Amino acid sequence: MPIAISSHYRFPIPGLPETEIIELAERLLKELGVSHYNVTLCLTDDAEIRNLNHTYRYKNQATNVLSFPFAEGLEEDLSYTGLRELGDIVISIDTALKEAYSFNQSPKFRMTWLIAHGLLHLLGFDHERSAEDAANMVIQEKQLLNRIFKTRSCPMPQLAINVDHIATIRQARGGAEPDPVFAASICELAGAKGIVVHLREDRRHIQDRDVYLLRKTVKTRLNLEMGANNEIIDIACDIVPDLVTLVPEKRQELTTEGGLDVAAQKKKLAKVIKKFTKAGIPVSLFIDPDPAQIQASHDIGAQFVEIHTGRYCDALSEKQQDIEFDLIATAAEEASRRGLRVNGGHGLNYQNADRIAALSTIEELSIGHSVISRAAFTGLEQAVKDMLQIIQNAQVRW
Ligand code: PXP
Repeated sequence: MPIAISSHYRFPIPGLPETEIIELAERLLKELGVSHYNVTLCLTDDAEIRNLNHTYRYKNQATNVLSFPFAEGLEEDLSYTGLRELGDIVISIDTALKEAYSFNQSPKFRMTWLIAHGLLHLLGFDHERSAEDAANMVIQEKQLLNRIFKTRSCPMPQLAINVDHIATIRQARGGAEPDPVFAASICELAGAKGIVVHLREDRRHIQDRDVYLLRKTVKTRLNLEMGANNEIIDIACDIVPDLVTLVPEKRQELTTEGGLDVAAQKKKLAKVIKKFTKAGIPVSLFIDPDPAQIQASHDIGAQFVEIHTGRYCDALSEKQQDIEFDLIATAAEEASRRGLRVNGGHGLNYQNADRIAALSTIEELSIGHSVISRAAFTGLEQAVKDMLQIIQNAQVRW
């Protein structure tokens, strides 16, 4: 067995049993092409790693990882001994967990990075040798981790916050507060990478003034949701959002109820897309996870689709939720294969968003109601950060 673990750590690592650490390290050895070599992984705490750091590197402080190569790199002249030892890697679990927390990573992801870093040291890489060596080691680490976490075909999904519900509260009294423009800035400060607003024909929440101001203040990306209605199309062409998402719109509905039937109105929607394309505005179509709608969206030249996650979120049993999830996963794959960029949204909350966020094909999640609802109790900044953390953790699941 190439990986031996020597654990001096008192507690189990949350969500990461020793067998999984061994599995991770073996995958890394394989990726590095040295799976026939032995490595000892020593898991310890800050006090012990500090002693080792002091003794062997004259640094009287704790650190995250130390590597002790058996020889200088992979010395071929040792081959006659029959020894296949790379050396020892010592990891402080105290520091690994602190780093995981502060970098918003799962313990598993942090441990993988530390083992990869330690292995590269054992193979002769050294970031302390020169700036060039440091840069090279970073590249090696990134490539290695990308290969290990290769399930994603695009980076972690971005979080776009829909601030319509802030406007709904404002409209309840018809006054000036709370202001969705102010809310959008807080969301961005908390880490959201986009702001979504739906300018409805009946102006029940977002007003024209909001979209014009948001165009001037949003620093990330402004996604304007809208029905394919001429009056709203003119406003969109005037403000030029970063993305237009076309949705079906019925006056009586409480919220967008289903996806657009693109297949049934290809001609009309193709014309709208053409108009927006001419104005330099990319278009996304909000569709159900249905192959016919993906095909139609592709045929009429949409750049994005937003897959409707509502049925998955509303499922009343685990079995039904699994079925809906599979439809979304398959539809997102299919759209991505056809060259469409894929977003997702509707009904996502703190309990169900992680599974969708873990899909490797999803670029952005558009979330409104659950975040604004939570904000009433935690504040908007915290509510956005809590959702971001869920998305971030979903990324590192296998
Ligand atoms: N995406 C689209 C196309 C929507 O219409 C909505 C609701 O306005 C959302 C996402 C956000 O849904 P929720 O408010 O349920 O998070």
